[in-house]
Amino acid sequence: MFKNLNLSLKFSLILLLIFSIGLVASGTLLSLLLEQRAQDEVTAKTRVLLQTMNSVRNYTSNHIKPLLLAQAVSEPVFIPEVIPAYSATEVFENLRTNDEYRSFLYKEAALNPTNLRDKADGFETTIVERFRNEPDTKELTGFRDLPGGDVFYVARPLTVSSPSCLQCHSTPAAAPKSMLTTYGSDNGFGWKLHEVVAAQVISVPVEEVYANSRRSLALVMAMLAAVFVVLLWVVNWLLKRSVIRRIGRMAVTADAVSTGQMQANFSEDSTDEIGTLATAFNRMKASLEIALKLLSQQPR
Ligand code: HEC
Repeated sequence: MFKNLNLSLKFSLILLLIFSIGLVASGTLLSLLLEQRAQDEVTAKTRVLLQTMNSVRNYTSNHIKPLLLAQAVSEPVFIPEVIPAYSATEVFENLRTNDEYRSFLYKEAALNPTNLRDKADGFETTIVERFRNEPDTKELTGFRDLPGGDVFYVARPLTVSSPSCLQCHSTPAAAPKSMLTTYGSDNGFGWKLHEVVAAQVISVPVEEVYANSRRSLALVMAMLAAVFVVLLWVVNWLLKRSVIRRIGRMAVTADAVSTGQMQANFSEDSTDEIGTLATAFNRMKASLEIALKLLSQQPR
């Protein structure tokens, strides 16, 4: 198919073919790598946040609760600040007041919550149920499509780890009066020891991270394409200068010699392959001239 094309076009087409294959291959590889990096970045960010929330929870359980629990239950109005779930949720709400973190979400999503703002939605319910059915699963991660944009979530199970939890989460009769005043007696009860009651779900928006990696991909691809255009131009220029033009000149000379114009010379001052060829042609032309002269001297 390339047979009748000139050398320069042939080279350009072959280079273009190689480049296209290279571009598609490296683009695919790079996009996989960037996607992996974006995913790692989002996962790391989410884990740090989750760990921070657990630190807030631990601080509340270890420092605030021992100090204030007695007061929290004896006051006429319950003091929710002693509850780890409350402090973690509030600290996160505080974080979300920053524009940068507005689309981040934290929830201790429970099937039967004490505070109804913790009520699990359909998606979170499936997560809690999976944790219930698969006791060995300690973490679930994935993507979720939310009205504000796609998010990446990390979820961990929350278990009724100690009998002390049952004081407030077993029956309204066992719960402090002040708690019933604030939260009512309809929900947040009937929890069992060692039961998974909620999932700690943290969600981080992914759109920006992925947009960044798409931008990097476009930039690298554009740079590769620019390098290729320059390369193509340089190869063509070199080819024209060092091969095509010289062969063209030799073709014209050979044409002239073949029609008997013996004054034409294969003039090449270089000693590369084309120069050597020109010298050989000149010798051949000289031999031809001698042979023709001899022929013309022969008596008829
Ligand atoms: C003194 C009573 C009390 C004790 C003890 C207690 N909780 Fe709670 N818990 C609450 C209250 C009140 C809330 C709701 C806080 C809020 O307003 O966000 C709550 C909320 C929660 C939530 C969030 C979901 C929901 O129900 O709103 C989880 C999960 C939870 N508690 C787990 C536990 C675990 C596990 C223990 C034992 C380690 C425990 N709680 C001990 C009173 C208690």
